[in-house]
Amino acid sequence: IKTTVGIIGAGPAGLLLARLLLRAGIESVVIEAKDREYVEQRQRAGILEQGTVDVLREAGAHERMDKEGLVHDGVEFLFNKKRYPLHFPTLTGGRSVMIYAQTEVCKDLISLQLKEGGPLLFETKALGVDGANTPNPSIRFERKDGSTGTIHADYVVACDGYWGVGREAIPKELCQDYERTYPFSWLGILADVPPSNDELIYARHPRGFALLSMRSPTVSRYYLQVPAGTDAKDWSDEQIWDELEKRCETTDGWKVQRGPITQKSVTPMRSFVHEPMAYGSLFLAGDAAHIVPPTGAKGLNLAVGDVVTVARALKHKVQTGSDDLLRAYSETCLQRVWQAERFSYDMTNLLHTDPNATPFEDKLQIARLQRIVSTPSAETDLALAYTGFPL
Ligand code: FAD
Ligand code: DHB
Repeated sequence: IKTTVGIIGAGPAGLLLARLLLRAGIESVVIEAKDREYVEQRQRAGILEQGTVDVLREAGAHERMDKEGLVHDGVEFLFNKKRYPLHFPTLTGGRSVMIYAQTEVCKDLISLQLKEGGPLLFETKALGVDGANTPNPSIRFERKDGSTGTIHADYVVACDGYWGVGREAIPKELCQDYERTYPFSWLGILADVPPSNDELIYARHPRGFALLSMRSPTVSRYYLQVPAGTDAKDWSDEQIWDELEKRCETTDGWKVQRGPITQKSVTPMRSFVHEPMAYGSLFLAGDAAHIVPPTGAKGLNLAVGDVVTVARALKHKVQTGSDDLLRAYSETCLQRVWQAERFSYDMTNLLHTDPNATPFEDKLQIARLQRIVSTPSAETDLALAYTGFPL
C-alpha cells in the first residue's frame, strides 16, 4: 500500500488526524489492531475541552455532538461534607467544557472516515516501523488471518497508544522517559440512573477520592479511588453504591441516587512522557507519547492537541515546501504536554488519599482545597487549566 501519511491506531488521535488530513487534501491510510466494535465500545474519557469541541466542529464531526453533548459550565469540589461550585465562564471569560464520551467521538469519526475518507483497516496490527529516519518510512503489518503487508509512506504518525509499537522505532539512546506510577487506581462504573447532580463532583474524603460524572441525562459515570491492583470483580454493586454514598456525604441531606450498574472496570494511574515525540519522518501522537492520570480529564484532549499540531505542520509542508513546523513538532507539543502533566499531577494529589500520607499532609491537602475555593485567583488558575490550554 502506498500513501502520503501512514497512521497507526484508530483511537481518537488516529481517527481525528485522518479526518484533518482529508480536509487538508492529504492522503492517509489508518490501520487498527482491534475490530470496529471494540474501538467503538471501549469506555474511556468523557470531557471535551472547549478547544477540542472547536476542532471537532471545524473538522465537520460535530453534528451529533452538538445535539447530544452536554455543555458544562463548572464543577463542584466536595470536602469536609460541603460542596463548593466553580463557574468556568465567569472565571475564564466564557469558556466551558462538554460531556460527550470518547466512544461517541470515535463512532462519529469512524463513520465519517468510512464514508468520505481514505482506507481505515480494522484488525490490522502494526508490527513495526522501518526507515523512520528516512524520507521513505514504512509500516509492517499483519492482518487477522495471518497475512502480512507493508504501508509505504512519506510520513508515519504513531497514534497507537501506550502499548503501541511506533515509539520503538526511535533509537533508545535518543530517548528519555519520564514516569510516575500511583499507589491507587480508579474503579469506574456506568449506571442506568439519571446523574445525582447537575454538575460534576470531585470529592475528597478520608476514605478516598470519588468523582461523579455522567454520559447523558439518563446514564451516570462514577469513579472511586481504589488500591492499585484492585480487581473490579472484588466490588459488589452494593459495596460501590455504599462507598459512593459515604465519600459524597454532605450536611445538606443531598444523596447519590442508586441504579443498575451496567459496566465496571479499573484504570491504573500513571504519568508518563516520552521525549522526543518525533524522529525523522516518524511522529508520535496521543497516548503513544504521554499518559496523564485521569483526574482533570486531560488525556483525550492532549491527543487532540498533538494531531492538530501534526496536521497543521503537514499542511504547511505540502503548501509551502517548508518542514519548519514538522521539525518543531516535538518541542511544540511537549510545552502543552508538560502543562497537562503538571495539572493532572496536582489535581491527583489534591484529591486522592495517599496510603502513606501523614496526618500533617492530610491537613495540608484540605488547606490547599480551602485556598482554591476561597481565592478568586486560585479558582481562576484551576478553571483556565481545566477548560484547556490554547491549541
Ligand atoms: P488510544 O485511545 O489508546 O488509541 C490507540 C489505538 O491504537 C487503539 O485503538 C489500539 O487498539 C491501537 N493500536 C495499538 N497498538 C497497535 C498496533 N500495533 N497496530 C495497530 N493499532 C494499534 N482520559 C480521560 O480524560 N478521562 C478518563 O476517564 C479516561 N479513562 C481512561 C481509561 C483507560 C482504561 C485508558 C487506557 C485511558 C483513559 N483515558 C481517560 C485516557 C484517554 O482515553 C486517552 O488519553 C485517549 O484514548 C488517547 O487517545 P489515543 O488515540 O492517543 O490512544
Ligand atoms: C470523566 C473523567 C475524568 O477523568 C474527569 O476528570 C472527569 C470526567 C468522565 O469520564 O466523565
